[in-house]
Amino acid sequence: MKILKTVLILFAVSVMVLACGDSGEKVKATPTKAAKAANPNGLTDFEMLHGIGPIKEALKLSETIDVALAKKGEKTFELKCFQCHRVDSKLVGPQLHDVTQRRTPEYIVNMMLNPEGMIQKHPEAKKLFAQFLTPMANQNLTKDEAMSILEYLRKEGKEVKKGS
Ligand code: HEC
Repeated sequence: MKILKTVLILFAVSVMVLACGDSGEKVKATPTKAAKAANPNGLTDFEMLHGIGPIKEALKLSETIDVALAKKGEKTFELKCFQCHRVDSKLVGPQLHDVTQRRTPEYIVNMMLNPEGMIQKHPEAKKLFAQFLTPMANQNLTKDEAMSILEYLRKEGKEVKKGS
C-alpha cells in the first residue's frame, strides 16, 4: 500500500513537472510566433514604416519647405529620375507628386538610396515592382542629393493637398 502511494505521488509530481515544462515553452514561443504573424517579412517595425537602407532613424525635417533646396532637388530630379518618373503622371514608375502622402520621408529616401534592397525585401516596394515590372535603377545619389529631391517632393505634396 505504501509503495502504491509513493508510485502515485511520484506519478503526480512528474505530470506536474511535465505540464510546467510544457507551459514554460509555450510562453517562450508565443512572442516569436506573434511577431512573425504581425510581420512575416522578418523586418523590424521601423523598416516596415520607414524602409530599408542607410536611413535608420527619423529624419529631422522642418515644417516649412526650404524653397531653395527644393529647387535644387527639382534639377536633380530632372537629371536622374525623369527617365522613369514624372511628378504628375505615371511613366516607367509611379507618379510622385503625392508620394509624401503615401510614404514616410525616411521610406522615400531609403527607396532613392537603396532601390535594390527595397524591391527585394520590402512588401510595399515588392508590390509596386509586381505592378510596374521594371526595377527602379540605383542613381547613386548622395544623401544630400536625395534630401534635396525629398524637399522637392514635399513641396509638390503640399501643393497637391492644397489643390484637393
Ligand atoms: C529605371 C527607371 C527608374 C529610375 C531611373 C528611377 N525610378 Fe523610381 N521607381 C521606378 C519604378 C519602376 C518604381 C516602382 C517600384 C519598382 O518597380 O522598382 C519606382 C519607385 C519609386 C518610389 C516609390 C514610390 C512609392 O509609391 O512607394 C520612389 C519614391 C521613387 N521611385 C523615386 C525615384 C527618384 C527620386 C528617382 C531619381 C533619383 C528615381 N525614382 C529613379 C523606376 C525608376
